[in-house]
Amino acid sequence: MRLFYLVSILALLVACDDKTKPAPEAKPAAPQKAAVVFEPDLPPKSNQIVSAGKAAIAKYECNRCHRIEDIKPPVMAKDCVGCHRAIIEGTYKAPEDKLEKWRNNIKSLLDAPTLRATHRFKHQWMVTFLQHPHDLRPRLQGEMPVMPITEADAIAIADYLTHKGTSVAVFQEDLVEKGRALTNEKGCWSCHSMRGVDGLKASPIPVEVKPDELAHAMLMAPDLSHVHRVKENYLIAWLQDPKAVKPDSTMPSMNLSKSEAEAIAAFLSLTTPAPKGEPGAVQRPAPLGRKVGYAEVKEKVLDKVCAHCHLDQAQGNGDGGPGNTGGFGYAGKGLDFTRFAAARQGSKNRETDRMLSTQINGMPRLTAFVLERHNEVNGLDNPDIPGMPLGHPPLSMEQIQLLDAWVVSGMRPR
Ligand code: HEC
Ligand code: HEC
Ligand code: HEC
Ligand code: HEC
Repeated sequence: MRLFYLVSILALLVACDDKTKPAPEAKPAAPQKAAVVFEPDLPPKSNQIVSAGKAAIAKYECNRCHRIEDIKPPVMAKDCVGCHRAIIEGTYKAPEDKLEKWRNNIKSLLDAPTLRATHRFKHQWMVTFLQHPHDLRPRLQGEMPVMPITEADAIAIADYLTHKGTSVAVFQEDLVEKGRALTNEKGCWSCHSMRGVDGLKASPIPVEVKPDELAHAMLMAPDLSHVHRVKENYLIAWLQDPKAVKPDSTMPSMNLSKSEAEAIAAFLSLTTPAPKGEPGAVQRPAPLGRKVGYAEVKEKVLDKVCAHCHLDQAQGNGDGGPGNTGGFGYAGKGLDFTRFAAARQGSKNRETDRMLSTQINGMPRLTAFVLERHNEVNGLDNPDIPGMPLGHPPLSMEQIQLLDAWVVSGMRPR
């Protein structure tokens, strides 16, 4: 029998003055149904960690998409996920015919995980993810956008959201096959995927889940190839009862015994997922061979996705979105795609045309930015070029060809 020891070295963060604080009050007993009562018993954070973490979260406006403990949601006009949800759920005040139209169009950022009980994540994973975000939930449209987060800010946020500390678990290789079989019996693959792992079968979910909760859970279930982000001891506790770790978790309790949870944890942790696609595989598409005007690109591309972050400052009551007047920690590039004159000018801050038509790697700047999003999704990010549309699925090659042709044919109105 071979043992695998996964050990993260302990680094205590607590400042001395915090040790004098009284321990937090004991929580009332968990409901009897819970299979496991998990007491994380984590040290409290120093005031310095709390204030630095909150300041960095405010700087990058993380609350525009996430609900975060102890941090207020933004006003509705800034709340990307909150506004989209309000429209879908019917609580947004607008005429019914408009709501109806919007409901059909909104597919992105309908949800984002709440940032509760984030101490279950490894500190180092969090630092890396904040600077190089990638897709975690294949069914959820809209991802963590690439933000200009400095190393120091990423560490400040990770210090606040999680704890450095020990995470020791011993996974036995001879439990892997048992774990694999259990995941095939227990309905795991009805909600989850695991990139590049063969032989996974979707079976009926053995516990009762209400239909609307099931739809939501399927949307929010991460690809389990990212499971190494979860501290090993929390992983076993999570598998026994997710809500004991994260009270608002959308994963149902699967009523697993401790030994079943250990076998599944061994399988998930000791199975190597396939690498992502080849980076750099996407090339500039061939020229379209005809003239393209703004009216066509606006209808087929810009209004569909780009205009929601590059909007008219006047229409947005002074807020032109992250790509125009700034947001998510970006200063703003003054790029408004909603009107021909503004789009053609490119940036209000620079000379005419420069923003969209100057070259990067021998192609129009605009083309380079939208191709870059394909590279990001394939796991290769370029710190100088955040791929567009930021945090959204890449454009199709036909759409990229159209944008490219618009610039090449002189950025005409029609
Ligand atoms: C534009 C919306 C948006 C903004 C702004 C944003 N996020 Fe996210 N974030 C998301 C989405 C969507 C996901 C889920 C991604 C996925 O599952 O593929 C996510 C995932 C995460 C996760 C993983 C949590 C989990 O349970 O899987 C963490 C941690 C996180 N974000 C932290 C942050 C922090 C910190 C900031 C600010 C620096 C931030 N996010 C800003 C949309 C956003
Ligand atoms: C005040 C409400 C509100 C806020 C805040 C808001 N949106 Fe939207 N969003 C909408 C509406 C309404 C639509 C549908 C517009 C239509 O159908 O013409 C939409 C559509 C979209 C779309 C295109 C449809 C889709 O789902 O792909 C994207 C992309 C988008 N929003 C991104 C964002 C981002 C990013 C933010 C935050 C920076 C944001 N939105 C903030 C109301 C909002
Ligand atoms: C009804 C859908 C559903 C089923 C069935 C389900 N899960 Fe989940 N699972 C989720 C959701 C949703 C989350 C994310 C919850 C959250 O962040 O609040 C999750 C999270 C997880 C996580 C944490 C992953 C991470 O990266 O944060 C693990 C591990 C996991 N599930 C394993 C399993 C296993 C193993 C099974 C089968 C025994 C299973 N799940 C069954 C929906 C499901
Ligand atoms: C979620 C918000 C968001 C969406 C959606 C989005 N952008 Fe952006 N865009 C930004 C931000 C923020 C910047 C500024 C990045 C920076 O400062 O480096 C930017 C910058 C750009 C730039 C680079 C400007 C320069 O020269 O530095 C181009 C080109 C661009 N966007 C094109 C697009 C196109 C085309 C789309 C639609 C396919 C799109 N964007 C969708 C947020 C967004």
